[in-house]
Amino acid sequence: MILVTGGMGYIGSHTCVELINAGFTPIILDNLCNSHKNVLERIETITGQKPTFIEGDIRDSELLNKVFSNYPIDAVIHFAGLKAVGESVQHPLRYYDNNVVGSLSLVQAMEKAGVKRLIFSSSATVYGCSSTEPITESFSTKAVNPYGQSKLILETMFTDICHADPEWQMVILRYFNPIGAHESGLIGEDPNGIPNNLLPFISQVAIGKRDKLQVFGGDYDTHDGTGVRDYIHVCDLASGHVAALNHLPYKSNCLAVNLGTGKGYSVLDVINAFEKASNKKIPYDVVERRLGDIDIYFADASLANSLLNWQAQFNIDDMCRDTWRWQQKNPNGYLG
Ligand code: NAD
Ligand code: UD1
Repeated sequence: MILVTGGMGYIGSHTCVELINAGFTPIILDNLCNSHKNVLERIETITGQKPTFIEGDIRDSELLNKVFSNYPIDAVIHFAGLKAVGESVQHPLRYYDNNVVGSLSLVQAMEKAGVKRLIFSSSATVYGCSSTEPITESFSTKAVNPYGQSKLILETMFTDICHADPEWQMVILRYFNPIGAHESGLIGEDPNGIPNNLLPFISQVAIGKRDKLQVFGGDYDTHDGTGVRDYIHVCDLASGHVAALNHLPYKSNCLAVNLGTGKGYSVLDVINAFEKASNKKIPYDVVERRLGDIDIYFADASLANSLLNWQAQFNIDDMCRDTWRWQQKNPNGYLG
């Protein structure tokens, strides 16, 4: 069995589907602070299997000890965490407590139970700067906000644990920009309130929930002046976790691996692709740069290819098509 913390969330739910399809049995631990219980039925509709679900918090050590003693867990995929950059600047304690203290209590329970295989959700945010070259895992890292700092602290902590005890096997996955949804349109990203990220905002404009998009900055040093990112389909990301899981038994050190497509698209490129996929016009205004944004970054994804035998399959048109299908089928997310 694979314990999936945060398995009810956006990336976790897609990974549970991939795990089941690959023959693994996921068991989800999630406190539902940013997800909905009906994700479980949706996973069942897609795969024919309903994962075991435990509602609870990763900071609850007693609960974790019970979970590890009640279920034969071979490895943990750890998604549970808070991820809103702006909120992390306003409420840093909340982020250090949930993300850092929560992960510490998780690995302590794992150690106690003798479960020493972990796959961790990190982020390209740990690189913290712009680059016109593809970003390799050996680039220097820098935290630019408390959210990014929480990921860096955890990367360091996991690396130290592996150095001290070679029985640990860990893969740190650094995601670039996950977008898209499962092709069924049954699971997808369901942000609370006004979306911060580009794709959820564009799709809410397309469906008529918002009037127009604000494009943050038209004077970046990129091909059309708007910010460039490496968008990756969430199902590719999910299959990257299965690839990492299959890789774990062969490696005993702590490995950091980028998950991206290796291609960069600007905000205007994404608007064009979304207009094509949805057959809707996306009205927009180019406004001031957003504080803390950077010009351009995209992955060198060759390590994932050579070590995990993984490579992204979906292109930007697929990502926009699947985002749009999810948005149309679920105009109010999981609430209907
Ligand atoms: P999400 O919010 O959709 O999923 C996270 C899940 O964890 C939610 O279901 C939430 O209820 C749960 N959770 C949060 N704190 C918890 C706790 N203390 N105990 C138990 N459950 C808890 O987010 P996501 O987009 O699926 O992201 C998953 C992971 O990937 C996060 O760690 C995030 O930082 C990381 N990540 C996400 C992105 C992105 O753009 N989505 C990019 C890079 C990294
Ligand atoms: C954001 C997070 C980053 C996280 C990543 C995951 C911030 C500052 N950074 O990165 O930590 O790892 O999501 O996906 O929040 N844009 C607009 N208008 C909008 C929204 C976005 O023009 O309404 C632009 C942004 O300026 C950027 C691009 O779209 O150029 C992508 O933005 P977004 O989806 O928020 O992702 P990131 O900023 O890359």
